[in-house]
Amino acid sequence: MPDIDSLKESKNYYLDIPAKNEPFFLKGSGALDWGMQNRLSRIFRADTGRTVMLAVDHGYFQGPTSGLERMDVNIVPLLPYADALMLTRGALRSTMPSTFERGIVMRASGGPSILRELSNEQIAVDIEDGIRMNVAAMAVQVFIGAEGETQSIHNMTRLVDAGYRYGIPVLGVTAVGKNMTRDARYFRLACRMCAELGANFVKTYYVEEDFETVTASCPVPIVMAGGKKLPELEALTMAYKAVSEGAAGVDMGRNIFQSEAPVAMIQAVRKVVHELMPPKDAYELYLTLKNEGKK
Ligand code: R5P
Repeated sequence: MPDIDSLKESKNYYLDIPAKNEPFFLKGSGALDWGMQNRLSRIFRADTGRTVMLAVDHGYFQGPTSGLERMDVNIVPLLPYADALMLTRGALRSTMPSTFERGIVMRASGGPSILRELSNEQIAVDIEDGIRMNVAAMAVQVFIGAEGETQSIHNMTRLVDAGYRYGIPVLGVTAVGKNMTRDARYFRLACRMCAELGANFVKTYYVEEDFETVTASCPVPIVMAGGKKLPELEALTMAYKAVSEGAAGVDMGRNIFQSEAPVAMIQAVRKVVHELMPPKDAYELYLTLKNEGKK
């Protein structure tokens, strides 16, 4: 019990100052509940509105892919530079330090391996386990135009329903099958479907032509997937173009952890995403850090 004898009598209600009610900084997220907004702000930085998510979930269908053979050795040193970490619950619990303070984006769909039809996924994590792991979002793959299109959409909408029940945002991840055209028309369709059906943010690939129409026609933030490993300058250029054309950041995997110097690369990516550093300058920074031994 507080000591009521010493209660201070004078009070100031600041009658001349209107009560503040700042709008949430993230596109399409103003009407979300406090818990959802709070979780999204563990992924996206409020000062820039963008994120550098580090995607290391590849093992859920690819096994120990190059760069992810030993996540304790290769990925843990990158964590101080990641705004958010996208991974499976197996990797999180077995390998990642629970002192990580930023957002965990939990891979929540899976099933088939690279040996099978990839679109045949199901929900792979219970929302209660997401809560237990204190995740900032759940990620689900959506295969528009593929054999498992409807099933994958259904996975996402079920996760969205569960997410709203507990205040956990959902990331819709647009998958590209072997026979799908990677153009703005396709990604406009896929991203818009994810958003309309409830995803709170969407991950998609960059396309050289009309990418800004993909971001403009999606009412929630888009983060750019890195895709296959490119030379560092090309990857930095792609990230620069994506954020300049409306992406709210990147969710990059191979272009960081398969780089010759991943710690240097993720720092260069951060400069591009949060400060719009021109790609050539960011590449110079990458080389400097690399030469300093920041591998
Ligand atoms: C793919 O299904 C996973 O979601 C990866 O996290 C995603 O492809 C991003 O990784 P990368 O930048 O290597 O393409």
